[in-house]
Amino acid sequence: MDFLSFVLYFLLSTTAIIALISLFKQTKTRKRNLPPGPTPLPVIGNLLKLGNKPHRSLTQLAQTHGPIMTLKLGQVTTVVLSSSVLAQEALQKQDLAFSSRAIPNAIHALHQCRDSVIWLPVDHRWRCLRKILNSSLFSGARLDASSSLRRRKVEELVAYAGKCCRDGKAVDVGRAAFRTSLNVLSNTIFSVDLADPSEDTAQEFRDLVWSIMVEAGKPNLVDYFPATATLDPQGVRRRMTAYFGRVLELFGGLIHERLAMRRQTKRAAENDALDALLNIREEDRGEIDRMCLDLFVAGTDTTSSTLEWAMTELLHNPEVLRKAKAELEQVVGIGKQIEESDIACLPYLKAIIKETFRIHPPVPFLIPRKVNTDVKVCGYTLPKGTQVLVNVWAIGRDPRTWPNPTAFMPERFLGSEIDVRGCDFELIPFGAGRRICPGLPLAMKIVPVMLGSLINSFDWKLEGGIAPEELDMEEKFGITLQKAQPLRALPIKLF
Ligand code: HEM
Repeated sequence: MDFLSFVLYFLLSTTAIIALISLFKQTKTRKRNLPPGPTPLPVIGNLLKLGNKPHRSLTQLAQTHGPIMTLKLGQVTTVVLSSSVLAQEALQKQDLAFSSRAIPNAIHALHQCRDSVIWLPVDHRWRCLRKILNSSLFSGARLDASSSLRRRKVEELVAYAGKCCRDGKAVDVGRAAFRTSLNVLSNTIFSVDLADPSEDTAQEFRDLVWSIMVEAGKPNLVDYFPATATLDPQGVRRRMTAYFGRVLELFGGLIHERLAMRRQTKRAAENDALDALLNIREEDRGEIDRMCLDLFVAGTDTTSSTLEWAMTELLHNPEVLRKAKAELEQVVGIGKQIEESDIACLPYLKAIIKETFRIHPPVPFLIPRKVNTDVKVCGYTLPKGTQVLVNVWAIGRDPRTWPNPTAFMPERFLGSEIDVRGCDFELIPFGAGRRICPGLPLAMKIVPVMLGSLINSFDWKLEGGIAPEELDMEEKFGITLQKAQPLRALPIKLF
């Protein structure tokens, strides 16, 4: 037998064996009482069904197979939950069993998953990290103490839009909001601006965070065929190692400077979150670097993309924008910046934010969960290790819950008690249960203030004379759901 025939023979027989094993496993899987789902192909399972917008394709599949559905993604059994009732079952009634994370291979880069509050299982270490986050950053007292800092950052955002207005230039809304989110976080933690508020210097960091999101969110064969993990065939882990390395280097430098300063002044000041973290954990510097990496990755793009989508919807729906401006004029006064304390008196603005989260949840499948034991749901059994995706995007557009679900209608939330804090499972953009987003209280302060201030300080027009109804509303999928075409809008002077 020549070499070519041998290779062909080898490939064919290997494929046949894998196909047989896979078929055998699939039959076994059916017997294991899993929820229904599309028939998987040998070896690749249902991978081809994902497409490049998995939130949309899985929503469509759920219409055929139901709100609890099994997919075989390569070798990984995945269950997709697509209704508020099932989300409540997993995230509230059986929260503990569903609280582990399915860790993408990319997150093993530089062993980030070993020290990360996002990826650790619910254990003693994770509880400690969450406690530290709550006490050092997100408690009511901490957030109140840092409100003037956030006010300054929003002032800078409005000043930047003012400069664009004078120069007749459009604002790239997502990019500007990203600089603000980045500086809010970097000032809260390190007391420094990581971005010049009036320039594009945040672009590199934004690209870095975006690249991390894309790498973590993109289909990686290794995640579906864990046996190939050491090979890293698409190079995802290699690239992630470089991105993590650059971010950790940046934060390591800032922490090093702070430690030197504390040694010089010989006192443990408590001026910002870094001081608070060092006071609790100075001996464990590595843990602080990692926590900062988590916070910047989890907190910047989610916040700025929410603002970009909210502005996009307002420019797409001029009547909603007009009503929001009228409310602001009446409550705050035309042309003024919004204070955090004003938010409670702005029900229409709050409704716009909820409607944006309903229709454009930034993290459409939450951060993937995994069951850490065999679990029974709706009479089915999810075997230990099953990956679980909660399709928040589908839940937000479920016609049984939301009349006219694709229309942007903030009015649906006026007089409604539904909130985003993890108790109303029809609307869970921050997740729910013990793994709910710890940054929720910060996000719910900064997003309405940024949006309200921008629309109360200027009139807005789409760049290039695009009519509202022609505005491109396409998304691109990563771990966060971004606007495919950046929103560019011209701020117009009010009087
Ligand atoms: C609009 C803004 C935001 C949205 C929509 C959002 C959404 C989410 C979601 C869906 C999760 C997963 C929850 C789950 O699995 O149930 C999450 C986790 C997390 N978020 Fe956020 N987030 C936002 C802002 C922030 C901010 C500002 C921070 C911090 C500065 C932050 C830090 C985190 C962390 C550390 C986790 C992991 C928690 C854990 O696994 O225990 N997020 N976020």
